[in-house]
Amino acid sequence: RRTGRASSHGKTILIGEHAVVHGAPALVLPVIDAEVVATVTPLEDVADAAPGSAAGHHLESTVHTGPLDLAPAAVMPTVTAVTATLRHLGVTDRPVHVRVDSQVPTARGMGSSAAVAAAVTAAVADVFGVVLDAETHHELIQECERVAHGSPSGLDARGVVADAPVWFEDGRIEPVALGARFVFVVADTGVPGHTREAVASVRERLDHDPETVRAVIDRIGALARHARGTLEGGDVQALGASMDAAHDLLTSLGVSSPDLDGLVAAARGAGALGAKLTGGGRGGCVLTLAEDDDHADRIAAALRGAGAAATWTTSIGDRV
Ligand code: MEV
Repeated sequence: RRTGRASSHGKTILIGEHAVVHGAPALVLPVIDAEVVATVTPLEDVADAAPGSAAGHHLESTVHTGPLDLAPAAVMPTVTAVTATLRHLGVTDRPVHVRVDSQVPTARGMGSSAAVAAAVTAAVADVFGVVLDAETHHELIQECERVAHGSPSGLDARGVVADAPVWFEDGRIEPVALGARFVFVVADTGVPGHTREAVASVRERLDHDPETVRAVIDRIGALARHARGTLEGGDVQALGASMDAAHDLLTSLGVSSPDLDGLVAAARGAGALGAKLTGGGRGGCVLTLAEDDDHADRIAAALRGAGAAATWTTSIGDRV
């Protein structure tokens, strides 16, 4: 009997959340330090476990520890990760014990649901000696994401397994060249975001006022394209300005909140080159751009002083 193990990590959206659901391109950054590890061990076969059901499986995590078929609604994506992967492998009658250790806070726009799905699906496959190819893995994560929040663009699913910034357009991904080193600080409001509701409300606005909302979506898409150019060209100041503009556009879509705006203001007060909400919004996290590591420390301190529950510093282009 072998133990399966796999890891993934959090993500943060640089530009393009919400607009990406309606076809706009987006840029996503991995947050490697926020790791999720899944460990899977086979259990003794359970005679009465119905094939394809969650019966017989066992979960050990901070959200739920116990039989998988008694898991609360919040764990349903994890249930899907286990059952869909076993179905894919054709071994639905083999019960497993799944342990999830996650440093990605849940419901904070950091891709926790996709990161847990990525680690669990790969670890379940690993216990049966299978390495999922990238597209199969992506489809399994997306199956879990549909359970988590309805109509996921696939951006989170890409970000949580990427080891470098990714350009996402029409469901496909491309690596992004970097012309400089960029240092970001992510800060958690401590307030859970509501991606499903936020995505639904943007869709409602789009239905009611297609002209205005489509124009905002297009502008966010144009900002994503511009931001890609600033990454490639190494223009840190211009990237910051794009982030500020993205926050204003997201606010006009109704997905910011007083807590998010408070952290954005605190970061700007500490001289951040740019600051915006990141992910679904209405709670969750902000993403800010610093000049260098020392500046990132000062921004992080200011954000914690303004009430942030946690901060992460993440850099890209370290080898430039
Ligand atoms: C959530 O992290 C990002 C959204 O754009 C939703 C999605 O892309 O599925 C709000």
